[in-house]
Parts: sequence; C-alpha cells; structure tokens
Amino acid sequence: MRIILFSSHQYDITTFNEANTAYGYSLNFQESHLDVDTAVLARGYDVVCPFVNDSLDATVLQRLHEGGTRLIALRSAGSNHVDLDAAQQLGLTVVRVPAYSPYAVAEHAVGLILALNRHLPRAVARTREGDFSLHGMMGFDLHGKTVGVVGAGIIGQVFSHIMAGFGMQVLAHDPGPPAAAMLALGARYVPLDTLLAEADIVSLHCPLVPATYHLIDATALARMKRGAMLINTGRGGLVESNALIGALKSGQLGHLGLDVYEEEGGLFFEDHSNQPLQDDVLARLLMFPNVIVTAHQAFFTREAISEIAHTTLGNVKAWHSGAARNTV
Ligand code: NAI
Repeated sequence: MRIILFSSHQYDITTFNEANTAYGYSLNFQESHLDVDTAVLARGYDVVCPFVNDSLDATVLQRLHEGGTRLIALRSAGSNHVDLDAAQQLGLTVVRVPAYSPYAVAEHAVGLILALNRHLPRAVARTREGDFSLHGMMGFDLHGKTVGVVGAGIIGQVFSHIMAGFGMQVLAHDPGPPAAAMLALGARYVPLDTLLAEADIVSLHCPLVPATYHLIDATALARMKRGAMLINTGRGGLVESNALIGALKSGQLGHLGLDVYEEEGGLFFEDHSNQPLQDDVLARLLMFPNVIVTAHQAFFTREAISEIAHTTLGNVKAWHSGAARNTV
C-alpha cells in the first residue's frame, strides 16, 4: 500500500514512521500543500493523506482519481477542505480522524481564555522588561460567569466540563439532541441569539459547513454582551474576520482568542517572520492588546499527534480490508 502525505512536518514523519512499524506501508512525506499543481505528485499512490489547509476541490480530486488514488485519509477531524460531493461522484472514499484528543483542543481554548482574561502575554513581556506594575492587568473571576458553547459535540463537551469546573454556568447551542453529559453539568440548551446575549465568553466548537459559515458576523457580534470574549478553535470560516475589527475598536468585543483564521491557508504552520505580513485584516487583529492569535495549534499535543497517526493508518487498513471505518 503506497501512501503520500501532503503538508508533512517533522512531527508527522516521526509519529507516522513510529505508528507504521505495525503496518509496513510505503510512506512518502511531501512538504508541499496539496493543490491543483501538486496533485500530480500523488500519481500511483492508492492513498492520499492531506492536512487541514490542503485543498481538495473537485479539480484536485479529479486529478487524484486519474492518478489512481482511491482513498483520501484525512489527518484531521474536520473535512471542510474536501468537496465531498465530488469525492462521492468519483467513487473516492474519504476517512477522517474523528476524535484524536478532544482534550488537546478544549484545553487550548481554556488556555486562550485564561491568557486573555489575566493578560498573560503582556504580563510576561512586562516583567521581562523590569516593569512590575499592574495597570491594565485587571481580569475577572470566571466563577459565577456564563460560558456559551456553540457546538456541544466531543470537544464542546470536554470544554464545557472544564469550564463548569471553574464554577461557570454553561449555555449550549447545538441543533442535535441535548447530550446527557451536558445536562449532567447543568448546561442549558438555548437558541444562538440567547447564548450570544447571555454569555460572558462564547467558544466555537461546531464544524464549518455552509450553515455555519460566518456564523459570527457583525450582527452576531452586536448581539453579544458588551465586552464579552470570543474564542474560536473551530474553523476560521465560522467568523467573519473583517467584522471583528470594528467590534474590537468599539469595545463591543472585549477579548478575542483565535486558533483558526479564515485566510490561514498558506500562512499558518509556516515561518513567515522574515516577510511583511500581506494579510491586512490579520495584521490589524494582531495589533490589539486584547487579541491572542495562535496558529492552529490547539490539536498539537503529543497524545493527539500520536493518535492521529495510529488512527489514520488504522483507517487505511480497515479500508483495504473492505471494512471502511471513520468514513465522512
Ligand atoms: P463533533 O462532530 O463531535 O461536534 C460538533 C458539534 O457541532 C455537533 O454536536 C453538531 O451537532 C454541532 N453543530 C453542527 N452544526 C451546528 C450549528 N449550526 N450550530 C451549533 N452547533 C452545530 O466535532 P468535534 O470533534 O467536537 O470538533 C468540532 C470542530 O472542532 C471540528 O469540526 C473542527 O472544525 C474543529 N477542530 C479544531 C482543531 C484545532 O486544532 N483548532 C482540532 C480538531 C477539531
């Protein structure tokens, strides 16, 4: 079985080689992103293994299919970067890693909340400079406040559990049936508008699908409590980035933590520190003292990376033996 992995980093090489000792597949690690120009590299590979910022639109899928690829084994939970209709029409199976470590993502979201609330990046920079003053450092107790969880799936539930541990009230918005674990925390399921109006912190954990594209736009931001905090560790496209700037400038949005950004493709996961940043919206967002941007690193723990490699190769094996699992 020949597998080509696009957007490979050293940690992919290490973890996939380790996991592959149990399988013995032929692995080709490519640094390049998968797109219409690089799809040719997959010629002759049964399995293509892309990451979140690879593009699998209809043209790319057509080229992969022509080259003999039959399985798309995503090394991610999200599948918003794949044209699933086109894949189905071509007879390409798409599998994913549904839950490699919900703790990794949920804990990162909590990390963003604590860092924003207690101004930790500024505090570190200040004390390093010998400035031990506290002006501008005041935060608020999480205890007794309300957190709104948009998308109470696997990650949203772990996140809610942690936040309930701080003594927060949990509001959830999810079109699915209420989860027993959420109800056990005392979470209340409410419409999105109610959640936005009542939550001190809004955290996004739903998938990016047409119905959730720009779920948080200027109108939604205006519905939030004045000075509330928004955290996005879901997908960049859930939030209309342009609208964030006005809301931050007016103080309507009090704090913003982003691990994902709608134009992150071609930027995140790479070192661009020697080049001028071309994205004016991101450049402006990075200038606000009450904004923290991390570069899609919420998934990035030892446990999650190892699980991604093991589940992906297990998915390939299951597909090869005719019992495809984790299909999208
Ligand atoms: P999941 O499928 O277990 O949960 C998603 C939940 O969102 C489901 O309960 C679903 O009913 C709900 N949902 C669907 N449409 C909705 C809507 N319109 N409004 C509110 N809720 C809606 O997925 P999981 O594992 O919890 O992951 C959630 C998302 O987190 C993924 O789709 C992915 O985009 C993102 N993610 C981000 C990572 C990162 O490194 N930043 C890593 C892993 C996942």
